Amino acid sequence: MKKTIGVLTGGGDCPGLNSVLYGILLKAMDAGSKVVGIEKGWKGFLENITRELDISKLDDLHTIGGTILYTSRTNPYKNAKKIKDPAKKQKMIEEMAKKMASQFNIMGIDALIAIGGDDTLGVAAAMHQYAGAKVIGVPKTIDNDLSSTDYTFGFWSAIQLASNTMDNITTTARSHQRIFVVQVMGRDAGWLTLVSGISTGADIILIPERPFDFNKDIVNVLRERVKAGCKYHIIACSEGAVPTVESLQRDFQTISQVKIDKLPKDEFGNPLLSKLNLSKVIVEELNLRNDLKDIFQECNAEFEVRDVVLGHTIRAGTPSSFDRILGLRLGIHAAQLVLEERYGLMVCLRGENIQTVPLAEGTQKKTIPLNSDLFELCNLITKVKYESRR
Ligand code: F6P
Repeated sequence: MKKTIGVLTGGGDCPGLNSVLYGILLKAMDAGSKVVGIEKGWKGFLENITRELDISKLDDLHTIGGTILYTSRTNPYKNAKKIKDPAKKQKMIEEMAKKMASQFNIMGIDALIAIGGDDTLGVAAAMHQYAGAKVIGVPKTIDNDLSSTDYTFGFWSAIQLASNTMDNITTTARSHQRIFVVQVMGRDAGWLTLVSGISTGADIILIPERPFDFNKDIVNVLRERVKAGCKYHIIACSEGAVPTVESLQRDFQTISQVKIDKLPKDEFGNPLLSKLNLSKVIVEELNLRNDLKDIFQECNAEFEVRDVVLGHTIRAGTPSSFDRILGLRLGIHAAQLVLEERYGLMVCLRGENIQTVPLAEGTQKKTIPLNSDLFELCNLITKVKYESRR
Protein backbone atom coordinates (compact mmCIF):
# COMPACT_ATOMS: atom_id res chain seq x y z
CA MET A 1 0.00 0.00 0.00
CA LYS A 2 1.24 3.51 -0.84
CA LYS A 3 2.25 5.53 2.19
CA THR A 4 3.04 9.07 3.16
CA ILE A 5 6.09 8.80 5.36
CA GLY A 6 7.10 11.60 7.71
CA VAL A 7 10.80 11.85 8.57
CA LEU A 8 12.70 13.99 11.04
CA THR A 9 16.28 14.35 12.27
CA GLY A 10 16.82 15.29 15.93
CA GLY A 11 19.72 15.98 18.31
CA GLY A 12 23.25 16.98 17.31
CA ASP A 13 23.92 16.69 13.59
CA CYS A 14 26.11 13.92 12.33
CA PRO A 15 27.69 12.87 9.01
CA GLY A 16 25.39 10.39 7.28
CA LEU A 17 22.02 11.93 8.18
CA ASN A 18 21.42 12.89 4.55
CA SER A 19 22.51 9.39 3.48
CA VAL A 20 19.70 7.89 5.60
CA LEU A 21 17.24 10.40 4.11
CA TYR A 22 18.32 9.45 0.60
CA GLY A 23 17.89 5.73 1.41
CA ILE A 24 14.34 6.41 2.62
CA LEU A 25 13.60 8.46 -0.50
CA LEU A 26 14.96 5.78 -2.86
CA LYS A 27 12.78 3.07 -1.33
CA ALA A 28 9.70 5.30 -1.05
CA MET A 29 10.00 6.49 -4.66
CA ASP A 30 10.34 2.90 -5.86
CA ALA A 31 7.19 1.91 -3.93
CA GLY A 32 5.19 4.92 -5.17
CA SER A 33 5.11 6.44 -1.67
CA LYS A 34 5.66 10.05 -0.61
CA VAL A 35 8.12 11.44 1.93
CA VAL A 36 7.28 14.49 4.03
CA GLY A 37 10.30 16.14 5.66
CA ILE A 38 9.66 17.55 9.13
CA GLU A 39 12.11 20.35 9.87
CA LYS A 40 14.09 20.93 13.10
CA GLY A 41 13.36 17.60 14.77
CA TRP A 42 10.62 17.43 17.41
CA LYS A 43 10.28 21.23 17.31
CA GLY A 44 9.04 21.04 13.71
CA PHE A 45 6.88 18.05 14.58
CA LEU A 46 5.08 19.98 17.33
CA GLU A 47 4.80 23.13 15.21
CA ASN A 48 3.93 21.33 11.96
CA ILE A 49 6.87 22.67 9.94
CA THR A 50 6.95 20.34 6.95
CA ARG A 51 7.81 20.16 3.26
CA GLU A 52 7.47 17.33 0.78
CA LEU A 53 10.82 15.93 -0.35
CA ASP A 54 11.23 15.51 -4.10
CA ILE A 55 14.03 13.05 -4.89
CA SER A 56 14.44 14.41 -8.42
CA LYS A 57 15.84 17.61 -6.89
CA LEU A 58 18.14 15.82 -4.45
CA ASP A 59 20.61 13.89 -6.61
CA ASP A 60 23.32 12.11 -4.60
CA LEU A 61 22.06 13.52 -1.32
CA HIS A 62 23.87 10.68 0.48
CA THR A 63 27.24 12.31 -0.27
CA ILE A 64 26.44 15.57 1.55
CA GLY A 65 27.16 16.23 5.23
CA GLY A 66 24.71 17.58 7.84
CA THR A 67 20.95 17.32 7.43
CA ILE A 68 18.81 19.12 4.86
CA LEU A 69 15.93 18.85 7.37
CA TYR A 70 17.75 20.90 10.03
CA THR A 71 17.81 19.65 13.58
CA SER A 72 17.14 20.76 17.15
CA ARG A 73 17.49 19.42 20.66
CA THR A 74 13.81 20.02 21.47
CA ASN A 75 12.54 17.21 23.72
CA PRO A 76 8.75 17.36 24.25
CA TYR A 77 9.14 15.32 27.48
CA LYS A 78 11.65 17.72 29.02
CA ASN A 79 9.20 18.99 31.65
CA ALA A 80 7.84 15.53 32.40
CA LYS A 81 11.37 14.25 33.02
CA LYS A 82 11.79 16.78 35.83
CA ILE A 83 8.78 15.50 37.79
CA LYS A 84 9.82 13.48 40.85
CA ASP A 85 6.54 11.64 41.57
CA PRO A 86 6.67 8.54 39.26
CA ALA A 87 2.87 8.33 38.82
CA LYS A 88 2.55 12.01 37.86
CA LYS A 89 5.54 11.73 35.57
CA GLN A 90 4.06 8.70 33.82
CA LYS A 91 0.71 10.45 33.38
CA MET A 92 2.31 13.52 31.84
CA ILE A 93 4.39 11.39 29.44
CA GLU A 94 1.29 9.45 28.40
CA GLU A 95 -0.70 12.63 27.78
CA MET A 96 2.15 14.11 25.75
CA ALA A 97 2.54 10.88 23.75
CA LYS A 98 -1.16 10.93 22.85
CA LYS A 99 -1.08 14.60 21.90
CA MET A 100 1.95 13.97 19.69
CA ALA A 101 0.40 10.93 18.04
CA SER A 102 -2.55 13.10 17.01
CA GLN A 103 -0.13 15.22 14.95
CA PHE A 104 0.00 12.42 12.36
CA ASN A 105 -3.47 13.34 11.08
CA ILE A 106 -2.76 17.06 11.12
CA MET A 107 0.41 16.50 9.06
CA GLY A 108 -1.21 13.94 6.78
CA ILE A 109 1.41 11.26 7.41
CA ASP A 110 0.78 7.53 7.81
CA ALA A 111 3.99 6.84 9.72
CA LEU A 112 7.08 8.56 11.07
CA ILE A 113 10.76 7.66 10.79
CA ALA A 114 12.72 9.42 13.54
CA ILE A 115 16.50 9.60 13.06
CA GLY A 116 18.33 10.47 16.26
CA GLY A 117 20.17 9.51 19.42
CA ASP A 118 18.78 8.27 22.73
CA ASP A 119 16.88 11.51 23.38
CA THR A 120 15.13 11.68 19.99
CA LEU A 121 14.43 7.95 19.85
CA GLY A 122 13.24 7.93 23.48
CA VAL A 123 10.48 10.34 22.45
CA ALA A 124 9.54 8.10 19.50
CA ALA A 125 9.57 5.01 21.75
CA ALA A 126 7.17 6.64 24.24
CA MET A 127 4.83 7.67 21.41
CA HIS A 128 4.69 4.07 20.30
CA GLN A 129 4.41 2.63 23.82
CA TYR A 130 1.70 4.96 25.13
CA ALA A 131 -0.20 5.94 22.00
CA GLY A 132 0.49 3.11 19.56
CA ALA A 133 2.00 5.64 17.14
CA LYS A 134 3.38 4.19 13.90
CA VAL A 135 7.04 5.03 14.35
CA ILE A 136 10.39 3.60 13.29
CA GLY A 137 13.75 4.67 14.75
CA VAL A 138 17.14 5.02 13.08
CA PRO A 139 20.07 5.30 15.53
CA LYS A 140 22.37 8.28 14.99
CA THR A 141 25.30 9.74 16.90
CA ILE A 142 29.01 10.32 16.44
CA ASP A 143 29.39 9.11 20.05
CA ASN A 144 28.62 5.46 19.10
CA ASP A 145 26.94 5.07 22.49
CA LEU A 146 23.71 3.30 21.51
CA SER A 147 23.27 -0.35 22.38
CA SER A 148 21.82 -2.81 19.86
CA THR A 149 23.87 -1.50 16.96
CA ASP A 150 27.50 -2.39 16.29
CA TYR A 151 28.17 1.14 15.03
CA THR A 152 26.10 4.26 14.73
CA PHE A 153 26.57 6.07 11.42
CA GLY A 154 28.70 9.19 11.82
CA PHE A 155 31.09 7.52 14.24
CA TRP A 156 33.74 6.51 11.70
CA SER A 157 33.52 9.87 9.90
CA ALA A 158 34.14 11.62 13.24
CA ILE A 159 37.00 9.21 14.03
CA GLN A 160 38.66 10.08 10.73
CA LEU A 161 38.33 13.83 11.36
CA ALA A 162 39.60 13.52 14.94
CA SER A 163 42.48 11.34 13.75
CA ASN A 164 43.47 13.75 10.97
CA THR A 165 43.64 16.63 13.46
CA MET A 166 45.51 14.57 16.05
CA ASP A 167 48.03 13.50 13.39
CA ASN A 168 48.47 17.18 12.51
CA ILE A 169 48.83 18.20 16.14
CA THR A 170 51.51 15.55 16.51
CA THR A 171 53.66 17.24 13.86
CA THR A 172 53.53 20.63 15.59
CA ALA A 173 54.00 18.99 19.01
CA ARG A 174 57.11 17.28 17.62
CA SER A 175 58.48 20.51 16.10
CA HIS A 176 58.08 22.48 19.34
CA GLN A 177 58.65 19.55 21.70
CA ARG A 178 55.43 20.30 23.52
CA ILE A 179 52.82 18.43 25.51
CA PHE A 180 49.37 18.68 23.89
CA VAL A 181 46.15 17.82 25.69
CA VAL A 182 43.51 17.16 23.01
CA GLN A 183 39.88 17.12 24.16
CA VAL A 184 37.49 14.96 22.14
CA MET A 185 33.64 14.91 22.20
CA GLY A 186 31.65 11.83 23.17
CA ARG A 187 29.79 12.73 26.38
CA ASP A 188 30.06 9.88 28.90
CA ALA A 189 31.28 7.31 26.37
CA GLY A 190 34.95 7.09 25.40
CA TRP A 191 34.63 5.47 21.96
CA LEU A 192 35.68 8.54 19.98
CA THR A 193 38.70 9.27 22.17
CA LEU A 194 39.92 5.72 22.58
CA VAL A 195 39.66 4.79 18.91
CA SER A 196 41.08 8.05 17.51
CA GLY A 197 43.74 8.06 20.26
CA ILE A 198 44.92 4.55 19.42
CA SER A 199 44.75 5.17 15.69
CA THR A 200 47.01 8.25 15.97
CA GLY A 201 49.37 6.84 18.59
CA ALA A 202 48.39 9.15 21.47
CA ASP A 203 50.67 8.67 24.48
CA ILE A 204 48.05 8.92 27.23
CA ILE A 205 44.34 8.25 26.68
CA LEU A 206 41.74 9.34 29.24
CA ILE A 207 38.14 8.14 28.91
CA PRO A 208 35.05 8.18 31.15
CA GLU A 209 34.91 4.39 31.46
CA ARG A 210 38.21 4.38 33.38
CA PRO A 211 38.46 7.27 35.89
CA PHE A 212 42.10 8.33 35.93
CA ASP A 213 44.64 8.98 38.66
CA PHE A 214 46.42 12.26 37.86
CA ASN A 215 49.73 11.25 39.45
CA LYS A 216 49.85 7.70 38.20
CA ASP A 217 48.27 8.00 34.77
CA ILE A 218 49.59 11.41 33.72
CA VAL A 219 52.49 12.74 35.81
CA ASN A 220 54.28 9.39 36.20
CA VAL A 221 53.81 8.46 32.56
CA LEU A 222 55.19 11.83 31.39
CA ARG A 223 58.12 11.38 33.79
CA GLU A 224 58.90 7.91 32.43
CA ARG A 225 58.49 9.06 28.86
CA VAL A 226 60.83 12.02 29.19
CA LYS A 227 63.40 9.89 31.04
CA ALA A 228 63.22 7.42 28.14
CA GLY A 229 64.04 10.24 25.73
CA CYS A 230 60.58 11.14 24.39
CA LYS A 231 60.47 14.84 23.55
CA TYR A 232 56.77 15.43 22.81
CA HIS A 233 53.61 13.95 24.24
CA ILE A 234 49.99 13.75 23.13
CA ILE A 235 47.27 13.28 25.75
CA ALA A 236 43.89 12.36 24.22
CA CYS A 237 41.22 13.29 26.71
CA SER A 238 37.47 12.61 26.47
CA GLU A 239 35.21 15.55 27.33
CA GLY A 240 33.57 13.17 29.81
CA ALA A 241 36.76 11.77 31.40
CA VAL A 242 36.96 12.20 35.18
CA PRO A 243 39.62 11.69 37.84
CA THR A 244 39.05 9.19 40.64
CA VAL A 245 37.64 10.74 43.80
CA GLU A 246 40.91 9.96 45.60
CA SER A 247 43.02 11.64 42.92
CA LEU A 248 40.65 14.60 42.76
CA GLN A 249 41.13 15.26 46.47
CA ARG A 250 44.86 14.47 46.57
CA ASP A 251 46.36 15.74 43.30
CA PHE A 252 44.33 18.70 42.06
CA GLN A 253 45.14 22.24 43.13
CA THR A 254 42.89 24.22 40.79
CA ILE A 255 39.59 22.52 41.59
CA SER A 256 38.07 23.55 44.89
CA GLN A 257 35.02 22.02 46.55
CA VAL A 258 33.20 25.31 45.84
CA LYS A 259 33.91 24.91 42.11
CA ILE A 260 32.64 21.32 42.21
CA ASP A 261 29.50 22.34 44.10
CA LYS A 262 28.72 24.93 41.42
CA LEU A 263 28.80 22.38 38.59
CA PRO A 264 25.52 21.27 36.97
CA LYS A 265 24.14 18.08 38.55
CA ASP A 266 23.08 14.73 37.09
CA GLU A 267 19.59 13.32 37.71
CA PHE A 268 20.78 11.90 41.05
CA GLY A 269 22.13 15.26 42.20
CA ASN A 270 25.82 14.39 41.69
CA PRO A 271 28.05 17.14 40.25
CA LEU A 272 28.88 16.56 36.58
CA LEU A 273 32.68 16.51 36.72
CA SER A 274 32.67 16.22 32.95
CA LYS A 275 31.66 19.91 32.82
CA LEU A 276 35.03 20.94 34.25
CA ASN A 277 36.60 21.41 30.79
CA LEU A 278 39.18 18.84 31.63
CA SER A 279 41.81 19.60 29.00
CA LYS A 280 42.21 23.12 30.43
CA VAL A 281 42.29 21.78 33.99
CA ILE A 282 45.01 19.28 33.07
CA VAL A 283 47.12 22.01 31.46
CA GLU A 284 46.75 24.20 34.57
CA GLU A 285 47.57 21.33 36.91
CA LEU A 286 50.63 20.25 34.91
CA ASN A 287 51.90 23.82 34.91
CA LEU A 288 51.84 23.74 38.72
CA ARG A 289 54.00 20.59 38.89
CA ASN A 290 57.51 21.85 39.57
CA ASP A 291 58.64 18.27 40.31
CA LEU A 292 57.81 17.33 36.71
CA LYS A 293 59.34 20.50 35.30
CA ASP A 294 62.59 19.66 37.11
CA ILE A 295 62.74 16.23 35.54
CA PHE A 296 62.09 17.66 32.09
CA GLN A 297 64.93 20.11 32.67
CA GLU A 298 67.28 17.36 33.86
CA CYS A 299 66.45 15.46 30.69
CA ASN A 300 67.09 18.55 28.59
CA ALA A 301 63.48 18.61 27.36
CA GLU A 302 61.11 21.53 26.88
CA PHE A 303 58.14 21.79 29.24
CA GLU A 304 55.36 23.59 27.45
CA VAL A 305 51.76 22.39 27.73
CA ARG A 306 48.90 23.36 25.39
CA ASP A 307 45.30 22.31 25.06
CA VAL A 308 43.18 21.90 21.94
CA VAL A 309 39.44 21.26 22.04
CA LEU A 310 38.43 19.49 18.82
CA GLY A 311 34.76 20.26 19.54
CA HIS A 312 32.36 20.40 16.60
CA THR A 313 35.13 20.06 13.98
CA ILE A 314 34.83 16.27 14.25
CA ARG A 315 31.06 16.29 13.69
CA ALA A 316 31.24 18.41 10.56
CA GLY A 317 31.85 17.77 6.87
CA THR A 318 31.00 14.99 4.45
CA PRO A 319 30.32 11.43 5.61
CA SER A 320 32.95 8.75 5.03
CA SER A 321 32.15 6.03 2.48
CA PHE A 322 31.39 3.61 5.33
CA ASP A 323 28.83 6.01 6.83
CA ARG A 324 27.26 6.77 3.42
CA ILE A 325 26.65 3.08 2.79
CA LEU A 326 25.50 2.40 6.37
CA GLY A 327 23.16 5.41 6.24
CA LEU A 328 21.67 4.35 2.89
CA ARG A 329 21.13 0.78 4.11
CA LEU A 330 19.48 1.92 7.36
CA GLY A 331 17.24 4.32 5.38
CA ILE A 332 16.13 1.66 2.93
CA HIS A 333 15.36 -0.81 5.73
CA ALA A 334 13.47 1.79 7.77
CA ALA A 335 11.28 2.64 4.76
CA GLN A 336 10.73 -1.07 4.10
CA LEU A 337 9.41 -1.52 7.66
CA VAL A 338 6.89 1.25 7.06
CA LEU A 339 5.78 -0.38 3.79
CA GLU A 340 5.33 -3.65 5.71
CA GLU A 341 3.50 -1.78 8.52
CA ARG A 342 5.89 -3.09 11.17
CA TYR A 343 6.22 -0.34 13.79
CA GLY A 344 7.85 0.34 17.16
CA LEU A 345 11.17 -0.93 15.83
CA MET A 346 14.68 0.43 15.42
CA VAL A 347 16.94 -0.59 12.55
CA CYS A 348 20.50 -1.48 13.49
CA LEU A 349 23.77 -2.93 12.23
CA ARG A 350 24.65 -6.39 13.55
CA GLY A 351 27.77 -7.83 11.95
CA GLU A 352 27.23 -7.59 8.19
CA ASN A 353 23.46 -7.27 8.40
CA ILE A 354 20.83 -4.64 9.02
CA GLN A 355 18.43 -5.99 11.62
CA THR A 356 15.65 -4.68 13.85
CA VAL A 357 15.15 -4.42 17.61
CA PRO A 358 12.23 -3.03 19.66
CA LEU A 359 12.62 0.75 19.74
CA ALA A 360 12.59 0.89 23.55
CA GLU A 361 15.53 -1.57 23.71
CA GLY A 362 17.56 0.19 21.07
CA THR A 363 17.76 3.47 22.99
CA GLN A 364 19.79 1.99 25.86
CA LYS A 365 23.26 3.49 26.34
CA LYS A 366 26.46 1.68 25.37
CA THR A 367 29.81 2.62 26.86
CA ILE A 368 33.02 0.68 26.18
CA PRO A 369 32.78 -2.70 27.95
CA LEU A 370 35.63 -3.09 30.43
CA ASN A 371 36.58 -6.44 28.85
CA SER A 372 36.99 -4.85 25.39
CA ASP A 373 40.27 -5.77 23.69
CA LEU A 374 40.63 -2.06 22.89
CA PHE A 375 41.85 -1.58 26.46
CA GLU A 376 44.71 -4.05 26.04
CA LEU A 377 45.60 -2.37 22.74
CA CYS A 378 45.54 1.03 24.42
CA ASN A 379 47.72 -0.15 27.32
CA LEU A 380 50.27 -1.79 25.03
CA ILE A 381 50.48 0.99 22.47
CA THR A 382 51.02 3.67 25.10
CA LYS A 383 53.39 1.70 27.39
CA VAL A 384 55.66 -0.13 24.94
CA LYS A 385 56.68 3.10 23.19
CA TYR A 386 58.65 4.34 26.18
CA GLU A 387 59.44 1.06 27.92
CA SER A 388 61.14 -0.27 24.78
CA ARG A 389 63.52 2.72 24.75
CA ARG A 390 65.03 1.94 28.11
O1 F6P B 1 26.04 13.66 21.12
C1 F6P B 1 26.82 14.19 20.12
C2 F6P B 1 27.64 15.34 20.63
O2 F6P B 1 28.44 15.79 19.56
C3 F6P B 1 28.46 15.04 21.88
O3 F6P B 1 29.65 14.34 21.59
C4 F6P B 1 28.68 16.44 22.41
O4 F6P B 1 28.90 16.44 23.80
C5 F6P B 1 27.38 17.12 22.10
O5 F6P B 1 26.81 16.42 21.01
C6 F6P B 1 27.52 18.58 21.74
O6 F6P B 1 26.25 19.09 21.50
P1 F6P B 1 25.94 20.56 21.01
O7 F6P B 1 26.27 20.63 19.55
O8 F6P B 1 24.49 20.72 21.27
O9 F6P B 1 26.83 21.46 21.81
